[in-house]
Order: sequence, then C-alpha cells, then structure tokens
Amino acid sequence: MSQTKRQILVTSALPYANGHIHLGHLVEYIQTDIWVRFQKMRGHECYYVCADDTHGTPVMLRAEQEGISPDELIARMQDAHLADFEAFHIAFDNYYSTNSEENRELALGMFGKLREAGLIVKRETEHYYDPERKMFLPDRYIKGECPKCHAQDQYGDGCEVCGATYSTTDLINPRSAVSGARPERRKTEHFFFRLNECAAFLQDWMRNGRDGHGSPLQAEMLHKLQEWFETGLMDWEVSRDAPYFGFEIPGAPGKYLYVWLDAPVGYMASFKNLCTRKDIDFDAWWNPHSETELYHFIGKDILNFHALFWPATLHFSGYRTPDRICVHGFLTVNGQKMSKSRGTFIMARTYLQHLPPEYLRYYFAAKLNDRVEDIDLNLEDFMARVNSNLVGKYINIASRSAGFISKRFEGRLCSELPNEEIVLLGKLQAAADEIADLYENRRFSEAIRRIMALADMANEFINETRPWEVAKQEGGEQRLHELCTANINMFRLLTLYLKPVLPQLAAKVEDFLNIEPLDWSSSKNLLLDHLINRYQHLAKRIEQKQIDAMLADSRQTMQADKDAQSPARHADRQQHAHPPIAETIGIDDFARIDLRVARIVEARPVEGADKLLQLTLDIGGETRNVFAGIKSAYTPEQLQGRLTVMVANLAPRKMRFGVSEGMVLAAGPGGKELFILEPDQGAQPGMKIK
Ligand code: MSP
Ligand code: ZN
Repeated sequence: MSQTKRQILVTSALPYANGHIHLGHLVEYIQTDIWVRFQKMRGHECYYVCADDTHGTPVMLRAEQEGISPDELIARMQDAHLADFEAFHIAFDNYYSTNSEENRELALGMFGKLREAGLIVKRETEHYYDPERKMFLPDRYIKGECPKCHAQDQYGDGCEVCGATYSTTDLINPRSAVSGARPERRKTEHFFFRLNECAAFLQDWMRNGRDGHGSPLQAEMLHKLQEWFETGLMDWEVSRDAPYFGFEIPGAPGKYLYVWLDAPVGYMASFKNLCTRKDIDFDAWWNPHSETELYHFIGKDILNFHALFWPATLHFSGYRTPDRICVHGFLTVNGQKMSKSRGTFIMARTYLQHLPPEYLRYYFAAKLNDRVEDIDLNLEDFMARVNSNLVGKYINIASRSAGFISKRFEGRLCSELPNEEIVLLGKLQAAADEIADLYENRRFSEAIRRIMALADMANEFINETRPWEVAKQEGGEQRLHELCTANINMFRLLTLYLKPVLPQLAAKVEDFLNIEPLDWSSSKNLLLDHLINRYQHLAKRIEQKQIDAMLADSRQTMQADKDAQSPARHADRQQHAHPPIAETIGIDDFARIDLRVARIVEARPVEGADKLLQLTLDIGGETRNVFAGIKSAYTPEQLQGRLTVMVANLAPRKMRFGVSEGMVLAAGPGGKELFILEPDQGAQPGMKIK
C-alpha cells in the first residue's frame, strides 16, 4: 500500500523540573515513543520533541531549600530526566528546556500578539502575600481552617473533610506553608487572558478541527470540554509577581509570565532549536496554513491547558493549531493508586535497577488503547505476560531454530521454501497493514494481541513440524533446513511488528539476522539464501524475587527521598514540605483530648460527598458515627474491621450529611497520601491513649 509521505511533529507533556520521572510519567513517554517509532518505520518525516518545564514558584523554592540557584537545579534535573528517558529508549529528536532563549522570544512574542489583539487586559486583583517571606503565594501554599466544618489544615480550594469547595480567601485562619506566617491579602495588578473572547473559535476548533479536518479530541474529552463551555470560560491570569522564576514581561517590571503560558510554547522552542541544528524550516511547520501535522500526547489532568488555553494562544498569535490532542489516563499499580508506603510509587530508576526497560514498554503497549481510561500495572500479570508471551511465545521461536542453522548449515538460510511455508509466511506478511492501522490509531493493545496470535500460529507450526525430530532423521537434512529457515522468517516478521515497542531487542535481532534495520516495508520480503550470525540469548524470564526486590527498594527510596513528585498533584500544584510544628502546649492541654482505640465496624461512601466516608466506630461497647475525609486514600473494604485511633470527646458536629461524633486520626498532606493511625497488635477497642 503506497501512501504519501507525511510530516508529523509530536510532543509529550514537558515534565516538571522539580521531580524525578516515575512509572506514571512513563505511560505517556512510552506511548508517544512507540507511536513516533512506528511513524518513522513507515518512512514519514516525524519529529519528537520535548523539554523540561522549568519555571514557577515550586522550582524557585526548592532551589532555595537546597541552597542552589534555580539554574543549577534545573540543569541537574534535566540530566536526571534525560538519563531516565534514554534508559527506557525514549528517543526524542530534541530535548530542550523552557528556560531557553528560543522560548523567551517565542513566548513573549506571542504574549505581545495577544495583547495587540486586545485579548490581554491588565487589572487589579488580590492575592495572599507572605509578609515574612516577602512574596505572593500560590493558592497551593496556603492552608487554613475550613469555613464550613472548621477542619484544620485544609487547602485553599476545598475541604477534604466535609467536601465543601470554596476559594482560598474563605479559609479561616490562613497560614503560609512556606514560612508559617499569617498571610495578608494584598492588592496587585495582573494580566488576564480574556478566554471567553475566543469561545467561538474554540468551539469550532474542538468540534471540526483545523480546517475542518475533524475533531482533535477523543469523544470523552470533547464531552468534558463542552461541559466547561456550559459553565462559561473565565479570564485566565497569565502573570505572576516577583520573586518568580520565569520570564519577566517587558515594560512591566516585576511581572512575570505565568509558567503555564510559557510551558506549551516550550514545544515550539524545542522544535525551533532542532530546526536550527537540522536546517528545518520552522515557519513551514508553524504557519496557520501549514500542511504538516501536530500531535500532542498528554495526561487527562492537563486537558484544559492543551485544549483551551493552548489552541487559543496559538491561533490568536498567528500560529497553526494542533491536529490532535491524544489524552491518556493515569497509572495505577495492582489496581490502586501508586502508594509510597506500599512501595508501588515506583521511580523510573528504581525499576531499572531490577528489571529490563523493554518489559515495561511491552506491558504498557499490551494495555494501552486510544481511550482515556486509567491503566493498571498489575505486577503478577506483568510477570505472567512477559514470561509467557514475550519470552515463551516470541523469543522461543528463534531459540528453537537458530542452533540448527549455525551447526548444520554454516549459518546460511536456504534459498527456496516449499509452498506450504510460503503460504504460512504470507499470512504473517499480510497482517502488516492491519497491524499498522492499529498502531496508527493508538490501539496498541489490539496490535499486541494480533501479533501474539501470529506468534501462536508460528508455535503451532513448529510443534507440528518438530524440527528437533527431523534433525535426527536420516535424509532429513533439507527438510530441516527449510523448516528452520521458515521459523527464522516468522521470527523476523514478528520482530518487525514489535519493533516500535521493543527497539533494543529488535536491534539485537537485526544483528543476529545480519540485516539492515527493519522498516515497515520490510514485511514484503523474506530472508532467503542469507548468512545469519550465531544466536545469543535475547531475553530472560522475570522472577518473582526481582519484583519483590523492586517493591522493597521502592518503599525505602520513597521514605528517604521526599523529592519525588506526588501523583496526586494537580497541575500547578507541587509537593511541599511538612507543615511547621505548632506552638508548644502543656500536658494539661493534651490531657483534655480523649483519644481512644476504635474498631471500624463499617465504612461506606456518602452520597454527594467526594471525599468522605461514613464510619461506624466501636469504642468498647459504644458506637460512634463519624464522617472522615479519607475517601481519596481508602476504599470502604480496606477499612472495615481495622483498628484506628479516634478523638472521642470532640464536640459533635452537624454536617451536611449528618452528625459526626468524633474524628479519626490520619497523617499526610491529603489526597491519596493519607494514612490512618493504627495501634499495635493487642490493643482493644475503647482503650484510652495516654
Ligand atoms: N509540566 C506539566 C506539563 C506541561 S506541558 C506544556 C506537567 N508535568 S508533570 O511532570 O506533572 O506530568 C507530565 C506528564 O505526565 C503529564 O501529561 C501527566 O499527565 C503525566 N503523568 C504524571 N503522572 C502520571 C500518572 N501517574 N499516570 C499517567 N500519567 C501521568 O503536568
Ligand atoms: Zn470542611
């Protein structure tokens, strides 16, 4: 099937420069890399660019904490990111930084164009200000008391205890998470992007795509966007006050571009940098009428930035818009969110110390599709699939035939095959178009299933024809040669189809087969009358102890390394240090709190509350009804029957869903990282904690 040569620019979201790469991130980079490798094998002109997302308050504060400059921090992080990506065979054509001259020029240029178009307005607004640290604070850095239920230590955007949503200004007794100081409300002037002015353009773009080429979005994402439109688009604040690590806006001293304005421009900047090095015409790729294609791969948490702000920014500053936003879901491990305490919050480099990178690529490919579902890394299933499919079905084909070719035929494949084998190989060759279609449409799991069905067919053939028996028969020489040649050819075709997923393994096979790098059209030929090299072992099975060791290692690393980014983070929200220790109290103050061991007899969800579970607690002959904001961290099943600790003399509080008669104790910043306290073995419900 001949087709025209496409020109495709592909990106993955730019990882934040304040955290290391973990397996969740890798879902995206592996997905994108497979797609890009496939396009390149098809002979298209395809570039894959990415960069570190370096700007913003968290990077600034973290550098300060470590006593280094932001430049030093981002340089160090970039090295670490690149090492991880390389190890997983993520092959960027360029990996750059948003803290670059190209990005400054492009981002400020676009900001200027939007201003000229009347889409940027300046107006007064009010923000929290930390008088001790002398800086305005992002909402994420303010904590305080919930205005509804009066729970302590809640973030500015909503209460994790009663589920109320409100804005930071409503918090009672707010504190700065940076200094612990009481923040002030301060007036300041900022630039705002009037997104609502872009509504008509955006509606057309999201429904009909660029030049009417079709929606750039998956159906479920289009649906989500439509919901946002129904509630109306708000002005977007696109500047921040000094001190800030970012680009200062010319003519507005002390005002910086908000990180989310310059971050996606980083895609362009990285590409521009590549253009300079490779003599590519940047403009031909970015003008509004460009015939080239632009694909962004992102996670579902950053949809609004890529499907609202970004196309609007591009269009109204005179650039082309994306053709496709490919959104994926989040990674879970063993059916649950990644957890530091269970050791399932696995950093890329922890994995690498225990297991081969391509096994993860294979597993993710076997699970990924074109929908926005979360994908689960079930470690038992991971081991089983790699061992039985990848090693058992695929690698085995080579290892069962290669030896004969070397030992009996001096490494040469025979020059002709009988019709039966030609027909069989024809079936494998004929699958090329169908498999290509699946890769193209990001239906990787189906592609893998199809390829494994072909491997099954190959194994059936080998089991029926039994080369190892033919080898012992007198006069079986030629038949053995034909059979082994056919088997090696089946192996070659399967390798070709798996190559986007397993690039390093494929390179080893190409060495073994003594052939040029396989591309998609190589499926049209067979390898006959050809000298191959001696077979060397290509892949090992996974053993349970490797997985156990990885989990143990991961648990340890996560305890030691608080650097890692939490998967629970929202865009523009960063992990922060533990809250400062509160003022000292006397022992009498403590004695007034009656803490008891309680058994969770029952736990159930509360209708209409996202974050609450309703608990029935037994405190030794007395039961209490308590609403606890721990749903983000536990399912009811995980809690039922367990012992925990409660405040038994907290005045009953009337909540939206009923009366709460006490409080259970839990530690952690919140969200998925919340850990209930559990007494040691032997404790009984009702015991007083002293
Ligand atoms: N810096 C922003 C993106 C800017 S793009 C102009 C950011 N960085 S991130 O490091 O937090 O995430 C990078 C990508 O990894 C995002 O697409 C995000 O959705 C994805 N993932 C991060 N954690 C993930 C999981 N646990 N599972 C799957 N993907 C996840 O967002
Ligand atoms: Zn509350």
